[in-house]
Amino acid sequence: MKKIEAIIRPEKFQLLRSELSSIGIGGLTITEAAGTGKQKGQTGVFRGNTFQIQLLPKLKVEMVVDDLQVDEIVDIIINTCSTGNIGDGKIFIHPIEEIIRIRTKERGVEAVR
Ligand SMILES: Nc1ncnc2c1ncn2[C@@H]1O[C@H](COP(=O)(O)OP(=O)(O)OP(=O)(O)O)[C@@H](O)[C@H]1O
Ligand SMILES: [Mg+2]
Repeated sequence: MKKIEAIIRPEKFQLLRSELSSIGIGGLTITEAAGTGKQKGQTGVFRGNTFQIQLLPKLKVEMVVDDLQVDEIVDIIINTCSTGNIGDGKIFIHPIEEIIRIRTKERGVEAVR
């Protein structure tokens, strides 16, 4: 199992969610986030010679999925969340050690089915 963690533009979430539900992805967590990437939050022309790192609003979307689903989901995220402009976000893929459904105590794949 893997956790796909995608940092996306907030306005892309509704489209991403509907694409994910069309392939049967149900469980996910979203968190309002603020972050910065390579441009340190600069969105336009650099003004002045002192600057602070600006934090821009993003949405963090996390989902734990079977290894076999990862490529398909990454493609969906790229296709729905890219504009081609700076700040489109990032995808981080993490290995998952264990999953436990609290109600039933099921573990592993059973716990996310
Ligand atoms: N190295 C990183 N570690 C953790 N979060 C990051 C990292 N880089 C980017 N992020 C998160 O992703 C968001 C969007 O990053 P962004 O798309 O601007 O990345 P970038 O590397 O600057 O790429 P681009 O040149 O396309 O803008 C940031 O606001 C931050 O929340
Ligand atoms: Mg950037």
